Order: sequence, then structure tokens, then C-alpha cells
Amino acid sequence: MITDTMDGDQLYKNQTRHSQLFMEKASTVMPGGVTANIKYFQPNPIVMQKANGAYLYDVDGNEYIDYLLSYGALMLGHGNKTIKEAIFEQMNNDGTLLFGTPHRHEIEMAHRIQSLYPSMKKLRYTNSGTEATLLALRLAKAYTQKDGLAKFEGHYHGGYDEVLVSVNPSLNQAGPKEEPYSVLESKGMASSHTQKTVILPFNDLENCEKILRKKQKDIGALIIEPLQGGFIRAEQPFIEGLRKLTKELGIVFIFDEVKTGFRVALGGAQELYGIEPDLTALGKVIGGGFPVGIVGGLDDIMDLSAPRQSADVFDPSQSQKSDAADVLFHSGTYNGHPTILAAGLATMDVLTKESSNVFELTNELKEQLTHLFKTKSIAMKAVGEGSIFNIVLTNKKKILDYRELQSSDLYMRRKIDLRLMTEGIYTKPLNRYSLSTAHTEKEVEKTIAAFERVLDGL
Ligand SMILES: Cc1ncc(COP(=O)(O)O)c(C=O)c1O
Repeated sequence: MITDTMDGDQLYKNQTRHSQLFMEKASTVMPGGVTANIKYFQPNPIVMQKANGAYLYDVDGNEYIDYLLSYGALMLGHGNKTIKEAIFEQMNNDGTLLFGTPHRHEIEMAHRIQSLYPSMKKLRYTNSGTEATLLALRLAKAYTQKDGLAKFEGHYHGGYDEVLVSVNPSLNQAGPKEEPYSVLESKGMASSHTQKTVILPFNDLENCEKILRKKQKDIGALIIEPLQGGFIRAEQPFIEGLRKLTKELGIVFIFDEVKTGFRVALGGAQELYGIEPDLTALGKVIGGGFPVGIVGGLDDIMDLSAPRQSADVFDPSQSQKSDAADVLFHSGTYNGHPTILAAGLATMDVLTKESSNVFELTNELKEQLTHLFKTKSIAMKAVGEGSIFNIVLTNKKKILDYRELQSSDLYMRRKIDLRLMTEGIYTKPLNRYSLSTAHTEKEVEKTIAAFERVLDGL
């Protein structure tokens, strides 16, 4: 039974009893009951049963408007008809799920990507965003013959050792703002990554320049989330300055557009800023709900992975050659999966027609939320571009980096997020909001009404 005096956590627990039972059982077979740590949150994750369009339905029978959308991947919402048809058509026409050889969908997708991302002169497919940034970094290091990399504090590029540094460091360990320390984010990582991975302060060109000049001999790649966390914009002079500086210092500039691709603009952050990186990593949206990644960029760099240059690890005659590693290795059983590319092409078809509606609706939601928080005298900024934004509880005029975000009222934000779930609004606590073609004015109205009830109850 729910009473008026219950706090948010108690209400939440009451409403998600079956999820709790499920999680208890799941914990006996999976560490923490989850198969990706990001899916865990306190007091317990919600276990979903079904989904449709903009909605999720949990095992307790609750309905939610989904703003998480699988961490932004589902830009057409759940179970989109065009995607479903494309998948079946691919399977029926091609007669298989997987060729294990080159096939036509790979070329078709490459042309479509290049029409939106002209900087991606040549490209390769991978199975995830993580693999895409991994390949981009290997290409950059091979090209420059420098094996260190630089990344920004608070930026995420996947879960492998090289980039799992200072993604979410505690401010006690993070060092000075002007020259942040490299903080390892996981047990089991080699301590050498505190040397090999140099951490830069986002939106601070002067200090980035100092660090990059000092370490230019070692740094082959600079990888950036061009909007931090998908929502904090790089200032235009900052990103232009980095473009110029990396060219001068012989560092490959990589845009990790796994979150921002298609979402901040159809052509990603590079379209928004009018800047061409040397390499780009894409993922999420372009899989239409399937796992995917794409790496593309300058011919000279991408061609390092062309196998005809030499033999690779799979060549039986390789062991007789003296220079075993003179080709850049890239492979994967499922790379360029036909069904996934069919889902991606269908996604692009829909987005070409409908993405502007998603951007407009997102703006409307941002404006209405900003107005609502103002009327309730709660300091809030809706920070973001295109179809992604985040709710940052702060008095600051602008949020420019990780440390400023950490100084916002995260405690209150978490409280609001949990309360919102009991009102049928879903995003993982503290996560950003993403919209889809399945969201409409009706969902915006419901969302604003739910927010109003939650803010009144605080
Ligand atoms: C910017 C960025 N890069 C890389 C990744 C890793 O992608 P995936 O989860 O597909 O491996 C993510 C995932 O959230 C991301 O947001």
C-alpha cells in the first residue's frame, strides 16, 4: 500500500517488488544480478518485460515512458515497423543471417554513412562502440608511430584499459583541474595506463595546449566525446583550437560519436561544429537496436588496415616472414553483419524523414521543463543538443566540464529520478534524456505533468 508519507525510495520499492525478487534470483547466477554494470542502480534496477514505441513495461505491470532508450541507441523507439520489415526482408532475400564474406549491404551502408559524414572517406565495421574506438586508436597509433594517447576527464570511450582512465574519478583523486591526474577506473588494470593515457581538461584550450606540447613526442591520438557525455558542448573556439593543434603536433584527432552520431544532428557533432576529424567512431543509433560500430576517416590512415599490403596473423605463410607485424590487424566474425546493416539502413531511411521532428520535440520538452523548474524556484539547466539533453541542477550559467557537473546537485537529481519512475517516467538515475521518433506531444504532456507532481512532492 502506498501512503502520502512514504519517501521516494519506499514508494519505489513498493512499486517494483517483482523486480526485486527477480534481481535476487539473478544475483545467484550473475554477479550483482546484471550483465553490464551500467544496468545496476540502487535500490534495485527495474526488470522489464515488454516494450513498444516510446514505452517500457516492467514485471510488476508498470508502464514507463522510456527516455533512456537503451543509452540512446533506440532513436526509432521500441519495435519500429520499418526496422522489423527490413530485418525480415534481408533474411528472406539473402537466405542467411551471415555470409562470412563481403556482401552488398556493406557497400550500401558505407555510401549512406559517407553522405552524412564526409570525413569518413573509408570505413570499417565493428560489433560495438567499444571496438570502434579501439580500432580508431590502433589506427592512430600505427599512423603516427606514437603509442600514447590523450583523452578528456569525464569522457567515456568503452570499457578497455587504455581508455578506462579518469572517466568518473573522485575529485579527491583527480588532481589539479588544469592538469588532471590519470585515475584508473577498474580493478585489474595495468598501472602503466596512468602513464600511457594522458588526461586533458575539457573546454580549456590553454591548458590542453600546454600538456599536448609537453607530451607530443609520445601522444599519437587525441580522442574526444565532442559533446561530453553526449550533452556538454565543446565551445567552438576550443574544438577549432584542438583541430589546429593536433594537425600541427602530428596527433590523430578522433571524434568518438558513438553517442552523438545521428542524435545531436544527423551528421553528428562534426556537422554541428563544421569540423572534420581525422577519424570517427560511430555506434548505437546506426545498429537500429543491434550491436554495431563503425570506424572511418582519412584514406591514408584507414588504408593501414588493408590486408593486401602484406599478410596478417591469419596468413599461414606469415610465420616465415621476418617482419610479422607490418599490417594493422582488424578482424571479427560478425563485422558488417547483414541483418544489422539492414536494420541500420532502415533506421537511416526513417531518420532522413523524421529526425527534425525528434529534434523539435526535444527542444519543446527542454523548454517546458526549464519553465516548470523556474516556476518551482529550482535552479535547473536543460543541457544538450538535438535529441539528447540532461537535467543539471545548478545555478551556473553554463556547464563546461566534468568537475562542474559533479558540483551540481546530484543528490536531488537522483531523488527526482527515482520519484519520476514511480510516476511512469524512465531513465536510469542521473542519466541523460534521449528522445525517439516514437515520442509525441502526448508523451511530452504526460512527462511535464509527472515532473510537476514530483517537484511538488519534494
Ligand atoms: C561515447 C561512447 N563511446 C563508446 C561507447 C561504447 O560503446 P558500446 O557500449 O557499444 O561498446 C559508448 C557507450 O556508451 C559511448 O557512449
